[in-house]
Amino acid sequence: MTGTAIDLLSVESVSQALAHHGYLADRGLATSVFLALTLKRPLLLEGEAGVGKTELAKVLASWTGGELIRLQCYEGIDATQAVYDWDYSRQLLHLRAAEASGEAAGLGADALENELYQERFLLRRAVLRALAPAPVPPVLLIDEIDRADDEFEAYLLEVLSDFQVTIPELGTFKAPTPPIVVLTSNRTRDVHDALKRRCLYHWIEHPSFDREVAIVRLRVPDVEVTLARQVAAATEAMRSMQLYKPPGVAETIDWATALGSLGVSTLDEDSVRSTLGAVLKYREDQERVDGTGMTELIKMAVQRALSA
Ligand SMILES: Nc1ncnc2c1ncn2[C@@H]1O[C@H](COP(=O)(O)OP(=O)(O)O)[C@@H](O)[C@H]1O
Ligand SMILES: [Mg+2]
Repeated sequence: MTGTAIDLLSVESVSQALAHHGYLADRGLATSVFLALTLKRPLLLEGEAGVGKTELAKVLASWTGGELIRLQCYEGIDATQAVYDWDYSRQLLHLRAAEASGEAAGLGADALENELYQERFLLRRAVLRALAPAPVPPVLLIDEIDRADDEFEAYLLEVLSDFQVTIPELGTFKAPTPPIVVLTSNRTRDVHDALKRRCLYHWIEHPSFDREVAIVRLRVPDVEVTLARQVAAATEAMRSMQLYKPPGVAETIDWATALGSLGVSTLDEDSVRSTLGAVLKYREDQERVDGTGMTELIKMAVQRALSA
C-alpha cells in the first residue's frame, strides 16, 4: 500500500482489504480505520476480551506490508522497556577499554561520560523502533494499555501526538512518516483523557449473528454452515446470561474448531457438554449455563440456525 493508495482509500475499500486478510469489520469499525489511516491518527480500540482488537492490528500489518511492532503492556511497564534503554554492559566495556588504553586519562570526566551516551549504546525498544525510517510505515500495536500503570500513559503522549521521542542525551527522534498506531484496552480501568484526546476511539461490540457466522466460516472453513450457525447462536445466547466471562469471537472460533474436529455436525447435549471448555473458561459460567437450561439453549440454537 503506497502513500497514494492511502489517499485513494474509501470506507468500502478498507472493509474489503480487511476482509481480504481475514478480518470482517462492521461499517463503524471500517470507518474508524479509514479515518485513522487518512488522518494519520492513533486508533484506540476498546471492547471486551476476544472481540478482535489485537487481531485488527495484525491484519493492518499484513495488509499494508508494514512490520508489526507489538508492545504488550503489563503492570509496572516503564519507558526503559517500552521506549529505550542504555546498554549498560557495553557502556561499561567501553569505559574499561578507554581506561586500559589510557584514553580515559586524556579525556575529561565529562567528555568520557558523553562518549557513553551515543546512539551505538542505545537499546531501541518497540516505541523507538516504530519511529525509525522504514520503506513501509510499521504498525505499532500498544496492546492492553489498561494493564499498564497510568503514569506510563504519560510517556506515550509525545509519541502519540507528534510521533517523536525525546532522549535527553541525544535529542529528538521523529518518525519521517508516522507509523500506524493501534492501542487496545479491555477497559479494566479507564485510560486518561489526555491519551484519548490524541486518538480516534472505537468501541468494538460483539459481532452480529450473521457477521459471527461469516467469521467462523472464514476462520474454520471445514465447519459446515449449519454447525457454524448453531455455534454462533449458542454463543450469542450465552452472552446474555450474565456470565463472569462472556465468550468472545475467539471462543466461538475455538468451539467450532473443537466440534468440527470431533466430527460433530449438529449440537446436542453430549457434544456441547464435552466441548464446553472451549467456549466457557470458568467453572461458575459452565454451571450457570448448565443450570439455566442446556436443552433449551441447544433447541434455540438449532432453531435459529434453520431460520434464514
Ligand atoms: N471481525 C473479525 N474477523 C475475523 N476474525 C476475528 C474478528 N474478530 C475476532 N476475530 C478472531 O477472534 C480472535 C480473538 O481476537 P483478538 O484480537 O485476540 O481479541 P481481543 O484482542 O479483542 O481480545 C482472533 O484470533 C481472530 O481470529
Ligand atoms: Mg487482545
